[in-house]
This record gives sequence, C-alpha cells and structure tokens, in this order.
Amino acid sequence: MKRIAIVTGATGGIGGIFVKMICLMDDIDEVWAIGRNKDKLDSLCAVSQKVVSVTADLASDGTDVISSLISERSPDVRILVNNAGTGYMGLFEKMEKDQVRDICRLNCSVPSELISVTLPYMHEGARILNISSASSFQPNPYLAMYSASKVYLKNFSRALNVELKSRKITATAVCPGWVDTGMLPRTKDGKEIKYAGMIDPETVVVKALKDSAKGKDMSVPGAFAKYFRFYSKITPTNIVMSQWSRSIRKYL
Ligand SMILES: NC(=O)c1ccc[n+]([C@@H]2O[C@H](COP(=O)([O-])OP(=O)(O)OC[C@H]3O[C@@H](n4cnc5c(N)ncnc54)[C@H](OP(=O)(O)O)[C@@H]3O)[C@@H](O)[C@H]2O)c1
Repeated sequence: MKRIAIVTGATGGIGGIFVKMICLMDDIDEVWAIGRNKDKLDSLCAVSQKVVSVTADLASDGTDVISSLISERSPDVRILVNNAGTGYMGLFEKMEKDQVRDICRLNCSVPSELISVTLPYMHEGARILNISSASSFQPNPYLAMYSASKVYLKNFSRALNVELKSRKITATAVCPGWVDTGMLPRTKDGKEIKYAGMIDPETVVVKALKDSAKGKDMSVPGAFAKYFRFYSKITPTNIVMSQWSRSIRKYL
C-alpha cells in the first residue's frame, strides 16, 4: 500500500513548498499535487519522482476526481494538506455571485469533503493540515467572507483534532499572517501595498509540519501573527475591526 500525501493548491506559493518539503520525508512514497494549472504541476513533477500531478478545479468537480482516485488506488493517506484557498478584498456588496460561491466552496466545503473521503484511508499517525489564516482571529471588514471562511476552517480543525484523538490522527489549523506569495496584490492604483510582518512561505510550512507532528491543533507562524492573536483576544472586537478597517480602506 502506497503511503501518500495530498496537497491542494500545490501550484501556489505555500502549496508548492509543502509539496517540496513532504517529498523529502522518507515515510512518504507519493505526493499528490492538486492544482488547476497543468504547466505549473509539470514543473513540480520535475522536483521529485514522488510527485503525482492531479489536474482538478476544486471549485467545480475537483473533490470527485480525488475521491475516485483514492477509491481506485486505496492508498495509506499519511498527510492531507487542505491549502487551496481564495479570497476577495473589498465590499461584500461588490462581489459577484460566483465569487461568493467559490469562497464558500474552496475554503470550507472542499477541505471538509476531502477530509471525509480520506479519513477511511488514514491510520494512526496520519495528519490533516488545514490552511486557515490570522484573519480567523477576528472579523475583517472588506475581507468579510474570507475571514469568516477561515474561522470555519480553524474551528473545524480544532474540534476534529479532539474527535480524532482516539484514532491518533491529528488536525491542525495553520494560521499565518501575511505571506509572500502570489495571492497578495502588490499595488493598488499605483500605490504600493504594505503588508505588516510579512513572512515567507517556507517559514509557514516548516512550522506547520513541526506543529502537526506534535499534535498541535493550531500553528501560528511568525511574531506578527502570534502578537495579533494575543492582541485580538485582549482587545474589544469593535476596536480591532475599526483599526483593521482604517489600515485597509486606503487600498480599496
Ligand atoms: N498569502 C497570504 O498572505 C496568506 C495568509 C494566510 C493564509 N493564506 C492561505 O494560504 C493558502 C495558500 O495561499 P497562497 O498564499 O499560497 O496563495 P497562492 O499562491 O495564490 O495559491 C493559492 C492556490 O490555490 C489554488 N486554487 C485557487 N482556486 C482553485 C480552484 N478552484 N481549484 C483548485 N485550486 C485552486 C491555486 O491554484 P491555481 O494556480 O490554479 O490558481 C493556488 O495553487 C490559501 O488557503 C490562503 O487563504 C495565505
């Protein structure tokens, strides 16, 4: 039975690093790299013979593709990284219906469905990593759906970590602040956007893998996200929201 890892959003900044680092693990035979962009997936395959590329649009029928592959091959799923995600910065009322649907689907339904289809193929020591965000620490106006979707993923992971204890399977919510990837726009109307405490994706992935190996239900990489988590706990939510709104409104 092949010991596999599954990484969604493998073509992106954080996902690509997860694929590369998991390929280095001796106890993993294959890393299923899931993404929409075939060329980017092909270049990941060049990194290691362990990479198996799976082209799928998770916002449409992607979980069906993965679930058929799993039932066909019956692997031992050692690691599942639910990393693919999407967001929208701006007023909720300006969002298209498809954008609203995709955020719910990609950030909430897809990870839940993938956990549901992989759990029967997981055994003692298996790990689930769900990429949430520091946006889950408080409601974020102008990033309203994104931050709400990340709360879902954080709370779901933590509860699941308790439920799965008896099977010795862990679930970890990974909650970074700003990460230097293609997800973040760099300019708005010619103005440079500044991201406080931005960290690189390697820092996120190294800590996430360490924390999940320890069975932690949360992984918060970088001093900024740690501080922000603490600050959001001790400060009234309306104050945190208005400070956030002031800092972000100039870029909208
Ligand atoms: N960057 C940050 O500041 C930050 C902070 C906290 C949390 N996060 C979270 O980290 C995760 C990874 O983001 P990232 O920063 O690495 O951004 P990224 O480089 O833009 O990667 C996003 C990944 O999601 C994939 N994806 C998007 N829509 C998809 C769909 N419909 N079907 C399949 N895959 C899809 C993208 O694939 P394509 O190449 O096909 O578009 C890409 O591989 C996300 O969940 C994000 O919310 C990011």
